[in-house]
This record gives sequence, structure tokens and C-alpha cells, in this order.
Amino acid sequence: MGEPRWDIHEYNAVESTNDAAKELVADGAGHGTVVVAKTQVAGKGRHGRRWASPRGGLYVSLVVEPAEMSVQLLSLFTGIVVVRTLRRFKTIPGLHWPNDVYVEDRKIGGILCEGIYRQKTFRVVAGIGINNDFTVSALPREIRDEATTLRDETGKSVPNEELLEVLLGEYDAMLEILATEGGVDQLLARYRRACLTIGRKVVVQTERRLEGEVTGVTSDGYLVLKTPSGETEEIPEGWLERVYWS
Ligand code: BTN
Repeated sequence: MGEPRWDIHEYNAVESTNDAAKELVADGAGHGTVVVAKTQVAGKGRHGRRWASPRGGLYVSLVVEPAEMSVQLLSLFTGIVVVRTLRRFKTIPGLHWPNDVYVEDRKIGGILCEGIYRQKTFRVVAGIGINNDFTVSALPREIRDEATTLRDETGKSVPNEELLEVLLGEYDAMLEILATEGGVDQLLARYRRACLTIGRKVVVQTERRLEGEVTGVTSDGYLVLKTPSGETEEIPEGWLERVYWS
């Protein structure tokens, strides 16, 4: 057997596993450090939002040192890892740009990747939240209608330890592909196949509010939007305010 590739730090409750992982990095922790907590009292979402973290969910942050990789692309590829993990538990998930994990029109997981430099080494803290072993009734009322959980989808309880083991295996597999020649293109192709946003009409919030049809995702991970006036916009950062389903 090879060396264990992940060094797992388990906590009962933390403010945010991303922040706990960043503290470990500040103390010298490197690639392969994993922080997992049963609950978070101040779980962070993208764009300064909160991530509700009832017990039973999986809240985990991985420290990775990708070679020559932007946070943007790694956060898309982390989305693929979560999709592949959930598929192993009898769900059919997909991604909404950039990396929201959905089952049909309900969100089941989210990803917040943060880049940090320490002593000239670039590291990414890849934070992953999966609504696992609870029902949506445990979530704040205002997000219940748009959310789902693995238990709600399958009627079964999957231990977080099992979900994490599969997730770390899938992360390893993704990093291996990334390290090969042509790996980025292979992962981009996978991302585009899993991306539910491509081909849909959306409203996207970026520096301004834009409406249009999503025609693709660039090799930098930017969303490509064709606006009603026929112009093409490439959007590096933002969130989908609305996705039209038909
Ligand atoms: C989003 O969809 O807005 C991103 C949510 C990311 C949540 C995870 S839970 C584990 C890690 N720690 C955090 O504080 N956030 C991420």
C-alpha cells in the first residue's frame, strides 16, 4: 500500500472549514491537508453569502498545491469531483456555472475555492459543502424550495465518512488527470458535459446584470453569453440569478 495521500483533521464544530484550513496552512500545512467538521457556525458561500451547515452535512476543505493552475479552473474541476462522487450514490447531479452542484433544479452542494500564497508557494483551499444526511427541513426556510439533500433524493443515509472517502478518491483521480499532458483539456471537456447551464437562457450577475443564452465555457473557465443584441460576452466572475428551464 502507498502512503496515505490525505492528512485528515476532524473537528466537531468550526466557524468555517476553509478558515480552519487556512490557519493550518499559515502554520506550515501543505498539500493533502484536509479539514472536516460536523457543523460550521459561520460556513461561507461564494460572494459573501452564508452556507447553512446543519449536522449531517459534509463540510470539508482540501489544501492542494496545483502546478500552474488558476483558482478559477480548479474550482470548476472540483465541481466535477463532487458530481462524480454523488453519482456513486445513485443521484444524477450536474453543475451550474461555475460550480454549484444541482440535482434537477435543486442545489445539493457548493464549492468555495480560495487561493493563498505562503512562502512563495501557491496553494488552494478547496471548500466543499454537500447536503448529505439531513432533510431540507433542517435548512433555513428561505432556501428550502431551491435545495435538496442526498437523503431527500435517495431516501437513504450515507455516512459522511463514506462520502468523504469516495470524494478524496475522486479528487486524487482528478489531480492525476490534471498532471498529465492534455489533462486540462480533458477536464474541461468533462466539465462542459456536466454543465447544465450551457444552452440555457440565464440572467447572470457580474459587474452588471446580463441576460442571454449560454453558449459555452472558455478554456479559462469564463461563461460565454450571447446577449439578445447578438453580442458575445465572456464573464470571468459572477453568479446566476436565474436559469430558464424551457
Ligand atoms: C456556495 O455555493 O456558495 C459555496 C458553498 C461552499 C460551502 C463549503 S462548506 C465547507 C467549506 N467551508 C466553508 O466555509 N465553505 C465551504
